[in-house]
Amino acid sequence: MNVADSELVEGLLQNQGYSPSQSLETADVIFVNTCSIREHAEEKVHSQLGRYHLIKKRKPEVLIGVLGCMAQSLKDDILENKPFVDIVLGPDSYRKLPEFLNRKQTIRNNQVDTKLSKFEVYDDLFPSRREGINAWISIMRGCDKFCTFCIVPFTRGRERSRSVEGIVREAKQALDEGFVEITLLGQNVNSYSHEGNDFHDLLEAVAKVHGIKRIRYTSPHPQDMTDPLLDVMASHQNICNSIHLPLQSGSDHVLKRMNRTYGKSHFIDLAQRIREKLPRVGISTDIIVGFPGETEKDFLETIDVMKTLRFDSAFQFKYSPRRGTKASEYEDQVPEKEKQSRLAEIIELQKLHTLERNETFVGSVEPVLVEKESKRSTTQWAGRTDSNKWVIFDKGNTSLKEIVPVEIKEAKGVSLHGKCIKKSEAA
Ligand code: 5AD
Ligand code: SF4
Repeated sequence: MNVADSELVEGLLQNQGYSPSQSLETADVIFVNTCSIREHAEEKVHSQLGRYHLIKKRKPEVLIGVLGCMAQSLKDDILENKPFVDIVLGPDSYRKLPEFLNRKQTIRNNQVDTKLSKFEVYDDLFPSRREGINAWISIMRGCDKFCTFCIVPFTRGRERSRSVEGIVREAKQALDEGFVEITLLGQNVNSYSHEGNDFHDLLEAVAKVHGIKRIRYTSPHPQDMTDPLLDVMASHQNICNSIHLPLQSGSDHVLKRMNRTYGKSHFIDLAQRIREKLPRVGISTDIIVGFPGETEKDFLETIDVMKTLRFDSAFQFKYSPRRGTKASEYEDQVPEKEKQSRLAEIIELQKLHTLERNETFVGSVEPVLVEKESKRSTTQWAGRTDSNKWVIFDKGNTSLKEIVPVEIKEAKGVSLHGKCIKKSEAA
C-alpha cells in the first residue's frame, strides 16, 4: 500500500514539474512515506529521519516531509522534538503537497495536515509507476473492522471505495504503459463497495479488460470472502489462483478478543471450501503470536490450524502493542521471551509446510510469468506461478513479461526450480 501511495505522491509532484532525484544527496525535497503497523516499522522511520537530519544540517535549504500513517502519531513528537521536519501529511492529505511545498518557500513553520477524510480516494490522480510488470491499483482506502490489535482504522480512517470506471480506466492506462499484471489493493480489499458493485463485480470488470495477463488482489478479510467472489475467480483465467487469507490466531478465545468475527472451525471450513472451488490454489496467511492473554493452549490451537490447512506461505509476527488500540490496554500482555519462542516455532513449522506444498508441484507444468532476472544468475529468470510461487529457470528463448510453460523439477527453500518447455519459434 505504501509503494502505491508513494507512486501516487510521485505522480502528483511530477504534475507540478518536480522530478525524482537520483540520490538523497542531490535532492531538494526528501519525503519518507511511513507505516505504523508494528513498532519495528516505526523504528525504521525514526532512524531514516536521523539520516535526513544530518543532511539538513549540511544543507539547511533541503525540505523534509513525513507522509502517511505515522504522520498522525508523530505529529506532536515532530512539533516538539523534530523541528527539522518541514511537512507532515497524513494519508488523506497528499493533495496538499504542492501547496505546502510552495508555502514553505515563504513560511518557516512546519506545515501539518493529518485530517482523515470520509471521501478521499484519489480517483482522478494517476500514479507514476516505475517497473513494467506489476501495477498496484488502490481500489479502496481505510478500514471499518477494528481488530483490537490494529492501528489501521485510526491512521487510515473509514472505508471508502473508488468507482469501477475509475479503476478500469487506471487498469487500461497501466496496460498501455506496458504493465501486464494488476494487483488490486486495499486495507480490506474485498469489502470494496461502490454504488451497488461489490468486490466480485469489480474483479470481473477488471478481468474483462482485454490484454491483462494476470490479476491479483490483497489483502482480503475472511469475513468478506464470498462464494460469488470464488466463482468469479474460478471463471476467469487471468485472475490468479492465489488467496491471502489472514488467520491471525487459531484460538476461538483469542480470535474473539481480537474482534476478528470468525472462529477456528469457520476459518478451516472456509479454507477448505476455497480449495474445493479452486483446485491447486495457493493460500497464504498472516499469523500473530503473543496476543495479550494467549496461553500455551491458545498457541497450540494456532499450530493445529497450521497443521490442518498447511498454508503455502505465511507472514508471521509477534504482537506489537499499538497506542490507542484496545488490545494495547489489555492487562495480560505476553512476555517478550514467550512471544519470541512462539514465533520461532511457527516459522520453523511454516518452512516445512511451504516445502511440502511446493513439492506437490514437482513434475507438473506451470504457466509462469517471467518477471525478473534471478538474483543468483544472469542466465536465469525468476517468475511466479499463478498460485504465487517463485520459480527459477534458464532463460532460453523466453523474454520478460511472457507467460511460459515451466516443468517443475525441484522444490528448494521457498522457491521452485524448473525447465522452460516453450517450443522454439522455428519449431
Ligand atoms: N502486532 C503484530 N502484527 C500486527 N498486524 C497488524 N497489527 C499488528 C500488531 N499490532 C499484522 C496482522 C495483519 C498484518 C498486515 O500485520 O497480521 O494481517
Ligand atoms: Fe487492521 Fe486488517 Fe483488522 Fe482492518 S481488517 S483492523 S486493516 S487487521
